[in-house]
Amino acid sequence: MDLADCYKKVRQRTEAICEPLQTEDYVVQPVVDVSPPKWHIGHTTWFFETFILKPYFAEYQEFDPNYNYVFNSYYETVGNRVIRTDRGNLSRPTVIDIKRYRKYVDDAMLNFIACGDISDEVKELLILGFNHEEQHQELLLTDIKFILGNNPLFPAYSKDYVSPRSEKTGAPFIKLEEGVYEIGFEGEGFSFDNELNRHKVYLNGFEISPDLVTNAEYLEFINDGGYHDFRHWHAAGWDWVNSNKVEAPMYWHNIDGEWHNYTYHGLEKLDLHEPARHISYYEAYAYASWKGMRLPTEFEWEAAAKQFKWGKCWEWTESAYLPYPGFAKAPGAIGEYNGKFMVGQKVLKGASEVTSPNHSRITYRNFFQPELRWQFTGIRLAK
Ligand SMILES: [Fe+2]
Repeated sequence: MDLADCYKKVRQRTEAICEPLQTEDYVVQPVVDVSPPKWHIGHTTWFFETFILKPYFAEYQEFDPNYNYVFNSYYETVGNRVIRTDRGNLSRPTVIDIKRYRKYVDDAMLNFIACGDISDEVKELLILGFNHEEQHQELLLTDIKFILGNNPLFPAYSKDYVSPRSEKTGAPFIKLEEGVYEIGFEGEGFSFDNELNRHKVYLNGFEISPDLVTNAEYLEFINDGGYHDFRHWHAAGWDWVNSNKVEAPMYWHNIDGEWHNYTYHGLEKLDLHEPARHISYYEAYAYASWKGMRLPTEFEWEAAAKQFKWGKCWEWTESAYLPYPGFAKAPGAIGEYNGKFMVGQKVLKGASEVTSPNHSRITYRNFFQPELRWQFTGIRLAK
């Protein structure tokens, strides 16, 4: 692996994602979960500066000591930080300042890599930094979608954006026999700590759909009054539907009786063949209940995944986000990467169309709170 080449590629992809933005688009934070694009480009830079340059590159001079406070996301080990809800309230550092910061850190990183003396420990941190930036590339795309898609003008992000087609196979459910299955990452290459350790689980026989639920199918649930029938909802889901007056997936708009949705091209007529997306776990669960089925567990999904196509959207599972047997936190700040979030969240499997290339695998475990839906999240049924 050419580390300098990998570094440049991953950093350039982030910049390419931001290319269509206007300066004002970089700044706003319409809801707490959506960070301003300028924060993402600063934070991913801070990650390399904090975890590689400062501890391992003796000649490195910090760009600005105040940036640690602005761009630290959640690392208690690394000190105090701007509260998350305030990320969009900062007009300084400016977008230009942050681009200068990126350039400064990139130059230093490439000098550091060129020195050649990279230990295995640093190499591991570098690869974590690449994977971290790739995660933020997906967040950039979903946060940009939220920022523009909640603007009353519904501006397009890019007319050049191509959404990969996903064809419904219409094939019958895939059957898996009861038995012991191996779950979790093994082998060479990168994985996050939450994919470890590989372990055995016993699964009862089950069936899983080869297809994602489409917009047309989800519309049947809406038209059948699914959002108004408490029998399909968890108590917390029913409270969420009612207090937020939810009637449809995020980005759907009923205009004069016709469903539209916001895409990267702007507001368009709803494509009925596309998988239903921007669905909360509560909605996924309610839809499955209305169909007389259920969501797969993360273990069922992983055991079956070689037999169906995935990657169009993240798929909610019935599994709580918990440590696997033998899970161990890394020492120091990096130990805060995943482990401390293993409470109150659901696992999502697969990847989405805005997941960075080469950043997905069958053992990947994404996780979000059940009410969130600004990610590309959808439904695969099991029974
Ligand atoms: Fe981060």
